[in-house]
This record gives sequence, C-alpha cells and structure tokens, in this order.
Amino acid sequence: MAVEVDGLDVATLRSEIQKTYTNVSENPDSGFIFPTGRAWAEELEYPKDLLDRIPEAACESFAGVANPFSFGALIEGEHSLDLGCGAGMDLLVAAQMVGPSGTATGIDMTPAMVDKARGAAEEMGATNVTVVEGDVEALPFDDASFDVVTSNGVIDLLPDKTVVFSEIFRVLKPGGRMQIADVTIQRPVSEEGKRDIDLWTG
Ligand SMILES: C[S@@+](CC[C@H](N)C(=O)[O-])C[C@H]1O[C@@H](n2cnc3c(N)ncnc32)[C@H](O)[C@@H]1O
Repeated sequence: MAVEVDGLDVATLRSEIQKTYTNVSENPDSGFIFPTGRAWAEELEYPKDLLDRIPEAACESFAGVANPFSFGALIEGEHSLDLGCGAGMDLLVAAQMVGPSGTATGIDMTPAMVDKARGAAEEMGATNVTVVEGDVEALPFDDASFDVVTSNGVIDLLPDKTVVFSEIFRVLKPGGRMQIADVTIQRPVSEEGKRDIDLWTG
C-alpha cells in the first residue's frame, strides 16, 4: 500500500480512522458529526422487518451514509461481500436477503467493529455470515468469488480509489455488480484540504 498519497501520510490517516470507528463501536451514543444508529437507518428506508431481526449492537453503531439496497434487494443464493462492514448492520441485511443458500461476507480493518459484527451475527444465529479483519485495498479473497459487492461510507475514506476498484473487479464474478453508497463531491478539493486528516475522519 502507498505510504503517501497527495502528500497525505496514509498510515496516520488509517490510524485516525480506526480511532474514530473504534469510538463509534464502543461509544455509539457519544454523538458524532455524522448520523448513526437505527433511527438513521429507518430514515434511509431500510426495510423495517429486516432491521427488526438484527441485534441492537449492530444497529447502534451503523455509520453508513445512505442505503446500498435502494438499488435493489440482493437475490437468494447470492454470495455477497460488504467492504468496510463496520458493526455489521448492512451485512446482516444482506445475510437475510441472500438466505441460507447464499453467503454474506464482511471485511473491516477496525478490530472493535469486527468483534461487534461477529457478535451480532452470532446473536442473530446467522450461519451464512463471515467477518474478516483486513484491508479493502488488499482483499484476501479469490478472483471471481462474489456475485455482488456492497459498501457504505467506506470508499470516501480511501485516498487512492483506483486500488479498491481494481480489487472489486478482481473478486467479482463476470456479470457481478456493485451496490455502493458513498459520499461524492462535485468540485475539486484543494491540496491543503487533501492533507487535512480531520476532513477525512469527520
Ligand atoms: C463510515 S464507517 C461505515 C461502516 C459500515 N459500512 C456502516 O454502514 O455502518 C467506515 C468503516 O470503514 C472501515 N474502513 C475504512 N478504511 C478501511 C480499509 N482500508 N479497509 C477496511 N476497512 C476500512 C472503518 O473501519 C469503518 O468501520
């Protein structure tokens, strides 16, 4: 992985991102600059019946920016991958959509989030779920192993987007699809802004 991108120290950025999301995991009620939790998921029109089956631990630390399932529900039997799965709310939505004949795999680099997602999957009895601790820029999965890749509020945190998209294309089966919710901006960011870690972590 790159050490610096556009003058930004990538190791420092990742460490600050991990601090922020460890806090979202461990102190979900402490108030963040971005919306979190079940009420936010309801505002984004996630299906209530699916949310109702997901343990509160996963919902309380939901920190997505939109609803990747608004592009369409996943299909029974599909193999799905959630990049930057956080505490696992989207992952457990996906697990219900793909059902027992499918699989829902999540990957996240923040250990506190990975623990929370694993605990929530276990509490829900979701046997088709796997949560991996790792980097979305170096996916530990075989080529062409997923039907669909989802992600919510993660790619905006990566300084070089080309790496993750080439990894997504590598792990998707031919004809596979992406359902990505993320933050986009419509004008160039100043060089100074790109190096401001507070702007990245919110
Ligand atoms: C805004 S949160 C969103 C979490 C989850 N998608 C959700 O909707 O609640 C961003 C997540 O991305 C993870 N993340 C950021 N950069 C990552 C990377 N390079 N590899 C793996 N996970 C990463 C963080 O640890 C954090 O859990």
